[in-house]
Amino acid sequence: MMLKDKVAVVTGAARGIGREIALLLAKHGAKVVVNDYGGGSDGAGDARGPADDVVNEIKGQGGQAAASYDSVASMAGGQRIVQTALDHFGHVDIVVNNAGILRDRMIFNMTEEEWDGVINTHLKGTFAVTRAAVPHMRERKWGRIINMTSTSGLVGNIGQANYAAAKLGIVGFTKVVALDMARYNVTANCISPFAWTRMIGTIPTETETQKARVEKIKKLSPAHIAPVAAFLASDIAKDITGQVFGVRGKEIMLFSHERPIMRVHLDEG
Ligand SMILES: NC(=O)c1ccc[n+]([C@@H]2O[C@H](COP(=O)([O-])OP(=O)(O)OC[C@H]3O[C@@H](n4cnc5c(N)ncnc54)[C@H](O)[C@@H]3O)[C@@H](O)[C@H]2O)c1
Repeated sequence: MMLKDKVAVVTGAARGIGREIALLLAKHGAKVVVNDYGGGSDGAGDARGPADDVVNEIKGQGGQAAASYDSVASMAGGQRIVQTALDHFGHVDIVVNNAGILRDRMIFNMTEEEWDGVINTHLKGTFAVTRAAVPHMRERKWGRIINMTSTSGLVGNIGQANYAAAKLGIVGFTKVVALDMARYNVTANCISPFAWTRMIGTIPTETETQKARVEKIKKLSPAHIAPVAAFLASDIAKDITGQVFGVRGKEIMLFSHERPIMRVHLDEG
């Protein structure tokens, strides 16, 4: 029971990677807020069923969970999601910012709506939920923030300028949260996952390279991501902060940090 008595908020927890993380945190003893606005893969609709199903699954396994149906993409939504944790379980110790959508488009065709939708869900959503949670963590001097990034941002990927910008923004955000919160025993780290989920099903597979990439991802289960999230959420990981871990099937990677690799200096300018 690595996470006994901890309270966790997992966003986008009705499906894919978030669902696996919510289930595993609960297995390790955490009380979990299962947040998901229940949108279809096009982002439309607001079904409550998917989040309720995960809550019932956790309760069926003897765990404790509560559902939250708010979108992460506004400050008010972030506040309400964290308030659900406070109302049901009294505090908030762990936040997993996992909710996400894709609106892939080549840069020359990308619309403002596609840009805003992705930036608001990933980047603003990560800020909104974190911002609502950290004052409580600061007060209790304990906390864990785990944010989902992507190799789209870390490396680059065709047709994902909006998503890459959001996901690399999340890395910068995480590094600063790690610095701001270090003195309060709060860590912040990123996971860059690779897993076959509904989201990956929306990636275009027009070219042979795209097809080959998606075929490889199909073999990777979202369940493989959850143990790394559970570890980062635990007491054991207290000294790990500001890092980016890649998780791909049974493989875990540690990413490097951006540093200058060459310098030239001229005294006279
Ligand atoms: N699957 C991968 O290989 C992969 C790769 C890199 C990064 N990621 C990241 O991992 C995270 C999870 O992705 P996934 O593959 O499990 O996707 P998924 O589509 O299976 O699940 C995402 C969930 O987030 C929810 N969601 C979307 N917008 C929301 C909002 N505004 N508020 C609340 N909930 C919202 C959706 O309803 C859905 O249940 C995302 O942040 C994604 O960018 C995934």
